[in-house]
Amino acid sequence: MGGQRIGIVGSGLIGRAWALLFASAGYRVQLYDILESQIATALDELREELQQLEAKGALRGNLTAAAQFELISGCTQLKELVQDALHIQECVPEQLQLKRSLYAQLDDLLEPQTVLASSTSTFMPSLFSESLKRRSQILVAHPLNPPYFIPLVELVPAPWTNEEAVERTRLLMLTLGQRPVVLRREIQGFATNRIQYAILNEVWRLVSTGIISVADADRVLSDGLGMRYALMGSLETAHLNAPGGVADYFQRFGGEIAAVSATYGPTPDIGAEAEALEEIARQCEELVPLEALPARRAARDEFLTRLAELKRQFT
Ligand code: NAI
Repeated sequence: MGGQRIGIVGSGLIGRAWALLFASAGYRVQLYDILESQIATALDELREELQQLEAKGALRGNLTAAAQFELISGCTQLKELVQDALHIQECVPEQLQLKRSLYAQLDDLLEPQTVLASSTSTFMPSLFSESLKRRSQILVAHPLNPPYFIPLVELVPAPWTNEEAVERTRLLMLTLGQRPVVLRREIQGFATNRIQYAILNEVWRLVSTGIISVADADRVLSDGLGMRYALMGSLETAHLNAPGGVADYFQRFGGEIAAVSATYGPTPDIGAEAEALEEIARQCEELVPLEALPARRAARDEFLTRLAELKRQFT
């Protein structure tokens, strides 16, 4: 792997996070951005971040912070970025037209050995790859923020994505210490947001109908379900919760699950419920005032590092 080249398009929040992950595994990383000033800022911040991670003992990989930083460089030409690259990770803003025009440009430059993966959290890969010559080499590799501390990456193929491109990306993610999951075909919201939104919908219903406060609804996850879900998913949890395993669990509780689920009612129109939003925002800001958000994020990231360490002992 030493010396293999990775190109990153877009050096904002997620592009920088990918740069850190690839460098931690010894890949040579080139960062490209439409704004040249953004590349310089990214390099400065990455140097500092690597030093801080090293000082805190949270640096990933076997190389020193200085050695990892040596592997990262800026690049001002897409053509140069794509040349001889093993993998290109696209991290430009979440706007479909922008992604479409960028992919059309990359299509003319992409070499046959290169996989092109988008970090998009919402666009199915078919939306920006359908008309391209190189479309079989294109897929989605969606990380969760902050990627340095959350290992999940969702790999989502378009109907025409080559299986080998998916498998190569899966193996590449494993070399970074990330934990990829593969969707067999694309679906809106992928798997993570579909599950996340199901939870948000129900939390919204419970809070907006006055059944539970914001703090208590969140505690149902953080002090209850989330304790188990940090270690295992909902199906293995069910498997462990009945003497005869998952089949026994659903035979015992399937009727109850269906009966409760039948009371959920319609999906809330979250974007349009202004009154509910005002109340939820009021309660959230009471818990964490807006000016305290950066400190709260930093505390979360710090504890995620420790949680990740603990989780490594539980396989
Ligand atoms: P960002 O706004 O922090 O960074 C985007 C960067 O792309 C900027 O530096 C911008 O100058 C650059 N850019 C714009 N047009 C470009 C072009 N044509 N060519 C090259 N560079 C260009 O955005 P962020 O948050 O890093 O998001 C990037 C992608 O990652 C999006 O698709 C987003 O959905 C996805 N993502 C974001 C997460 C998050 O929590 N922010 C989590 C998971 C995925």
